[in-house]
Amino acid sequence: MMKSKKPGHFTPRVIQSRFPAAWTWFVDELIPATAKKKYSPKESWKEKPFSKEDARFFFKGIEELSNLFTEERPKGMVPYFNHPKYRCAYLLYFLPLQAAKFLTLFELNPGALKAALQHGREQKVLRIADIGAGPATASLAFLLWILENEKGEIPRIEFYWSDTQSDILKDGKELVESLSNQFPKLRDKVEIHLSTLPWWKSASRLPDELSLTFLGHVLNESAVPTQMSEAFWPDLIDRASGGGVLMVEPAARKSSQYLSRLRNELFSNDCIENTPQRIWGPCLHAGNCPLAEGRDWCHFSVPTKIPGEWFKGFSENLGSERQWVKFSYLWVASASHPAPLPPATARRVISDTLSQGLKATHLLCEPDEARKWNPPSGVRIWRGDVVKLSKGREEF
Ligand SMILES: C[S@@+](CC[C@H](N)C(=O)[O-])C[C@H]1O[C@@H](n2cnc3c(N)ncnc32)[C@H](O)[C@@H]1O
Repeated sequence: MMKSKKPGHFTPRVIQSRFPAAWTWFVDELIPATAKKKYSPKESWKEKPFSKEDARFFFKGIEELSNLFTEERPKGMVPYFNHPKYRCAYLLYFLPLQAAKFLTLFELNPGALKAALQHGREQKVLRIADIGAGPATASLAFLLWILENEKGEIPRIEFYWSDTQSDILKDGKELVESLSNQFPKLRDKVEIHLSTLPWWKSASRLPDELSLTFLGHVLNESAVPTQMSEAFWPDLIDRASGGGVLMVEPAARKSSQYLSRLRNELFSNDCIENTPQRIWGPCLHAGNCPLAEGRDWCHFSVPTKIPGEWFKGFSENLGSERQWVKFSYLWVASASHPAPLPPATARRVISDTLSQGLKATHLLCEPDEARKWNPPSGVRIWRGDVVKLSKGREEF
């Protein structure tokens, strides 16, 4: 991270999400062609190029699914992927949207990806679990990332995907196979293993040592009694070497606070050692999360323009042209490849500007209780920035 000219302050996240060169082909050609081939109601349409009429036809499912995702659902989520209309809607719109979040998180935590690759090289195979994989969103984002960023030989890749809905896993398999065939660097290198299982039963079916593990937007979909999942986490964390476990959830309070409480339990149950080196992000300390309950919650927004003509059209029709990607996340580092120890004076900004009098005030993340902080005048601070305090830990 670059230092700004102001003492005691790291520059705001450099970040605008960046998209790999293959992204536009992926979202404008591969996804629409696959969705149309699999989900057109008429045989004669299936091999024709995706058109504006198709976009109009499939948009209804996108709109309905978007409403379903934003509704309060006290009884948990209905199994929407049983319905072909919603599988197709997810491929066309939500897959690019969620993949953009994974790419953004890869950008924010490059050390974790480096650890995954290093572990994969040592093992001569990258074993990657994607739990609640849906159409393999996280795995696809990883392949796009590795195509763009790995200049040398890519090791063999074995994917282990699980989900309660098998048809959407098959859609993901088709996409990953087409993507891998398109690029010589990936051709004949990718092997896919599928299981139809709830997430809390999936760990024992995974290989003993994984290079990277994803849980994307799945934990918020099922209200799981703790006793059903309590064996899952230690088992998963034990297997998660290399780049550790990345969990991404919506930016909403309920899903974010679930992640915060899970994080606290992983520490307090000794699933992970009590050091910030067991977390890639967003936390810089290993104390209790100050936002695990109450009014505020830990979430981030990153300025983004997601490339893709069809995606743009769908966003406009939903009345929400995307300027940001928003998410909550927890990236647990592995014991074998821990994250670097953050400087003792570094703090994560966990609020937007709180309007309080003339001085801008922000919340900084500290164990148990967030600290109010006024940035030096003239410095613009964003939620998610890392700032450096002048007096450091001796202050608390
Ligand atoms: C919003 S989709 C996310 C898919 C993909 N991981 C992504 O990030 O785009 C949620 C996925 O979780 C799956 N799911 C819901 N409840 C589940 C459970 N109890 N165990 C495993 N998967 C589940 C759904 O079938 C769906 O594929």
